[in-house]
Amino acid sequence: MKNVGIIAVGEYIPKKILTNKDLEKMVDTSDEWITTRTGIKERHLVEKEAASDLAVGAALDALKSSGLAAADLDLIIVATITPDMQFPSTACFVQAKIGAKKALCFDISAACAGFVYALATAQQFISSGVCKNALVVGSEVLSSITDWKDRNTCVLFGDGAGAAILSEVKSGGIMATYLGSNGEMTRLLNVPAGGSRMPASHETIDTRMHYIKMQGNELFKLAVTIMTEAAEEVLRRAGLKFSDVDLVIPHQANARIIMAVAKKLGLAEEKIYLNIEKFGNMSSASTATALCEAVKEGKVKKGDIILLDAFGAGLVWGASIIKW
Ligand code: UT7
Repeated sequence: MKNVGIIAVGEYIPKKILTNKDLEKMVDTSDEWITTRTGIKERHLVEKEAASDLAVGAALDALKSSGLAAADLDLIIVATITPDMQFPSTACFVQAKIGAKKALCFDISAACAGFVYALATAQQFISSGVCKNALVVGSEVLSSITDWKDRNTCVLFGDGAGAAILSEVKSGGIMATYLGSNGEMTRLLNVPAGGSRMPASHETIDTRMHYIKMQGNELFKLAVTIMTEAAEEVLRRAGLKFSDVDLVIPHQANARIIMAVAKKLGLAEEKIYLNIEKFGNMSSASTATALCEAVKEGKVKKGDIILLDAFGAGLVWGASIIKW
């Protein structure tokens, strides 16, 4: 099996910003509540763009620093729960827009763990020799499924995309991955209508069933437990200790979740990368853009051990250890 690593990262964040103060005018909330309960101060929202438009921005940013052309890609995986359309895959739209003619393309639906799932999938294609160069994107337009009248959820989400290019590397790369799911908990976070269970109708629109429904409190506790266990398990698989980890890049759902996980694991705050303040929860795009920003800010150096740790609707979770 070949060693597979991330050779470049990229991101694309839409320009429009919605602050907590803006939200105060939309629902019964306050900047103080949102900041102290979640760590979020603002989030970016699309104006007209779809998930593939954001994904293309992130892909081109990553390609620029990879030394590869779009024509060199033979695999495109987009992790998203807000695809442009139910079908075809958002990855196919991305392929056409960037001109990656020889790539095979598909989407992955693993909610907030989607980017980690997609990295692990691309790794399999490359390490087995089926593909050489893969583009993996986490791209979300969560504003399109957010109920802007529901204060329990609308303060949490944002739009954006992050990308990674994967290829064979001589040493290091993805050292271990731990993916898991618990389908008993689908009720905790979902969009009830628009699929085959509840196709779109006047009634589903009138009852706001096309928007995110979430049991935040229950999820919060599960997120802390599962992200802690996922981090421990992936380290065990990599044969490493927490003291070996240089930077943890967690899914950015809530700063309090992240700090509770860090406390349980005995990790110092400076080892945790946080950007939720600027972007809110962008589902699959959160881990992807956090990784990209950490690299661009010089917080990830060659040889560093990076721990990605994500959790989301399904339930699903995914953690990876990457030697940069
Ligand atoms: O992306 C991966 C999956 N998602 C997650 O992991 C999210 C996990 N959950 C959370 O992050 C938190 O549960 C939330 C941020 C969603 C909520 O925080 P919480 O501390 O769990 O609050 P809560 O739901 O227990 O609500 C506490 C109070 C309630 O009022 P009462 O019943 O105590 O009077 C809510 O109605 O806060 C109220 N509340 C708000 N107040 C002001 C809920 N949302 C708001 C709001 N502004 N936006």
